[in-house]
Amino acid sequence: MKEVISPERIQARVAELAREIKADHQNEDLVLVGILKGAFIFLSDLARHLGEDVEIDFVRLASYGNSTQSSGEIRLTKDLELELNGRTVLVVEDIVDTGLTLKWFVDHLRERGVRKVEICTLVDKPERREVELELDYVGFEIPSGFLVGYGLDYGEKYRGLPGIYELEL
Ligand code: IMP
Ligand code: MG
Repeated sequence: MKEVISPERIQARVAELAREIKADHQNEDLVLVGILKGAFIFLSDLARHLGEDVEIDFVRLASYGNSTQSSGEIRLTKDLELELNGRTVLVVEDIVDTGLTLKWFVDHLRERGVRKVEICTLVDKPERREVELELDYVGFEIPSGFLVGYGLDYGEKYRGLPGIYELEL
């Protein structure tokens, strides 16, 4: 296992992203929607920089693929709890790979009447992108490799590591 992003770099970048998000949403009501389970650590660090007004919700999406690759056939196994009709939503994701998961979810939010959908991902892996997706906030761009740590898992392990590591599969 090789360290790709140190805990210190992650923390510095998360603070920077939060500053950008705050500056872009002054006086705007904002809901963070984290995609479980991978985004739980990133969202909690981000939220601690964003102040008192942001609201938080979570969904869990399941893809019918295997654990390292998504198929594009997605279903919601834990739905939203807040009413997001007419609101601005910042979707918080751990990593965007093919983009199939997020594309499905963004379309789903629009169908449910969300006014503005934006995306914040800690890691962008653009090499395997299969659908066009506009990412509003990106922590790190990493070309390839299977990553674990800081919420990212392999078979449910490694989520608690404070940095991001490449796993030799
Ligand atoms: P996508 O639909 O291909 O963009 O895949 C997105 C989801 O697959 C992410 O939310 C992760 O849960 C998982 N995933 C993709 N790449 C990695 C990785 O390198 N490590 C851990 N999980 C990953
Ligand atoms: Mg995920």
